[in-house]
Amino acid sequence: MSVILDIKDLEKTYYSGNHPLTVLQGINFSLQAGDTCAIVGPSGSGKTTLLGLCAGLDRASSGSVILNGIKLDNLSEDERAQVRNQYVGFIFQNFQLIPTLTAIENVMVPLELRGERNVHNQAMELLARVGLAERFDHYPTQLSGGEQQRVSLARAFSNKPTILFADEPTGNLDEETGQKVEKLLFDLNREAGTTLVLVTHDLELAEKTDRIIRIKGGTVVSDQITSSVGNVQE
Ligand SMILES: Nc1ncnc2c1ncn2[C@@H]1O[C@H](COP(=O)(O)OP(=O)(O)O)[C@@H](O)[C@H]1O
Ligand SMILES: [Mg+2]
Repeated sequence: MSVILDIKDLEKTYYSGNHPLTVLQGINFSLQAGDTCAIVGPSGSGKTTLLGLCAGLDRASSGSVILNGIKLDNLSEDERAQVRNQYVGFIFQNFQLIPTLTAIENVMVPLELRGERNVHNQAMELLARVGLAERFDHYPTQLSGGEQQRVSLARAFSNKPTILFADEPTGNLDEETGQKVEKLLFDLNREAGTTLVLVTHDLELAEKTDRIIRIKGGTVVSDQITSSVGNVQE
């Protein structure tokens, strides 16, 4: 197995005015290709910040993020964007579709950025996979929350990501819709063999992954393998 994500001594400090606020400190873990992992913890504990650093959306204050063998720490914003486009899918709690683009156009964006051919057909296939083929020309405002999140799943997988990050992907959905989205997420993930890192409040959802990392106050308080009962790593 190969290491796909390696996090060492990660720290993130925000500055507002002259006041430093350290929101993550001393974070260490690594994931093997194909792993599924949940990051859980109270609101404000640093989960979204951590996911953003792992995905190369943001830069750490110190420490190191190595994604698929690439050290992100000293890369420019453009270089990180290239790494993201090549290897990373990201699903946001609030979907973050581009409002001026239709469903299919949203799914086509990563494909076009990669210079792929046949982008329309590929995007259409993905929309069909998430059950939205007939809604391909609808704008995000014409779609329900669950439908928007399904478009965002199609967009994330259109990138053929090596690693997929999902920040509370069902957090803004009602329970029934959330379960549909959750099933699609795991199904697509299994089919593509993608490494999955998800942030959630939902322990039932977390327990469906191989590993649960708990964070509190910006540090890891437990790191537990879920697939084999009793096998607990600290
Ligand atoms: N851009 C920012 N500037 C300053 N503080 C921030 C910023 N983003 C997040 N924070 C703070 O960092 C802490 C962790 O936030 P976050 O990572 O969003 O937590 P979680 O996702 O676990 O709720 C919070 O106290 C939040 O207010
Ligand atoms: Mg958050």
